[in-house]
Amino acid sequence: MNHFPTLDPIPLPAPVWLLKALHDLTFSLHLASVGLLLGGLTLALVFALLGRMRESDVMTHASGMLIHRLPTVMAFVINLGIPPLLFAQVLYGRALYTSSVLIGTYWIAVILLLMGSYYGLYVAAGLAARHRTWFAPGLAALLLILTIAFIYSNNMTLMLRPQTWSAMYLHSPAGMQLNTSDPTLMPRWLFFLIGSFPATGAALMLMALRAGLSDELARFMTRTGGLVVAAGIAVQAALAQMTMGAQPDKIVATVMDDSLYRTFVFGWLATALLLAVLGIFGAMSKRANALAAIVASVVAFLNVVSTTMVRDGVRDVTLRAAGFDVWDRQVASNWSVIGLFLVLLVAALVVIAWLIGVSGKAKRVQENYV
Ligand code: HEM
Repeated sequence: MNHFPTLDPIPLPAPVWLLKALHDLTFSLHLASVGLLLGGLTLALVFALLGRMRESDVMTHASGMLIHRLPTVMAFVINLGIPPLLFAQVLYGRALYTSSVLIGTYWIAVILLLMGSYYGLYVAAGLAARHRTWFAPGLAALLLILTIAFIYSNNMTLMLRPQTWSAMYLHSPAGMQLNTSDPTLMPRWLFFLIGSFPATGAALMLMALRAGLSDELARFMTRTGGLVVAAGIAVQAALAQMTMGAQPDKIVATVMDDSLYRTFVFGWLATALLLAVLGIFGAMSKRANALAAIVASVVAFLNVVSTTMVRDGVRDVTLRAAGFDVWDRQVASNWSVIGLFLVLLVAALVVIAWLIGVSGKAKRVQENYV
């Protein structure tokens, strides 16, 4: 029995491969930003707490530098979440809209949770700038962000379980339920949470390169960053194993049979290994190291891209087994609109690069959180 709603009268406005490529690129950027937000906030809280307990200026300063940047990171999380949401809805609408409605109350609540967490970040950053303790709003923001990630994982797993939809609708037509009976949910959510740390560790190594930092602070950020990269990727590898292990054997076998997805599974392993080596190198460094920091950041992003692609493979294979083949969609490409879109996309990327260049050249403000 096919559980997907049949009414889908509008053909896709662009080829499936193009929509998927844009989806995967923008989702990787979203996921990398989510990693920096979650990992950055967790580390900032740990540094703030330990800094206070051990009366360590270095830790307090590092925590201030992190929290100061997080409202900006949150803006990236949100803005880079919108494009993959649009592409995912176009490609998988019949599955994604259905699961969104089934957990509707929680799904809508994301907007409020997002506003609350954003507010918490601003309050925390403001308190840190005034040398005041910001633990409570920071922790509140973290709890809200973890909840948002949990709701996202619920929706993205529920969209793959059409066989449960009718019963769930009968159980709560108001959408007051989550997909918690799904064995893939918890390992997947934890995989994304722990996945925050390799990217955050690499970002900490990059921040250590900032001009004007004391040698002690730069060393602390490089070494801790390296440790976080290495430990984070080791735990994430174990969770990757658990996440794939929770999938039905047939799904894993079909993903591995596909040469594209298989390449990214091995790509994930190769980048994970490289991250472990770079992380250990950073953890043992005596001073900030530009090459190690830049390479670790690039490899951490490639690791996120591999995650995106394998996740994509699991979704396509699972949906196909349930009767929804995303490659089978009716397409009526509107090339003038696609051309205009690509021109605007390139223009936007050029403007962003220019803005990053301008802010890179700007006179540095002396940061002081101690
Ligand atoms: C603090 C805020 C946020 C956090 C922590 C977060 C976290 C996550 C996580 C962990 C996933 C992966 C879920 C999974 O596959 O199991 C995800 C997926 C996603 N997020 Fe976010 N997210 C946040 C905000 C947003 C916002 C504001 C948007 C859009 C406006 C967004 C759009 C998306 C989309 C579209 C996906 C799935 C894409 C797909 O399956 O094709 N996110 N998010």
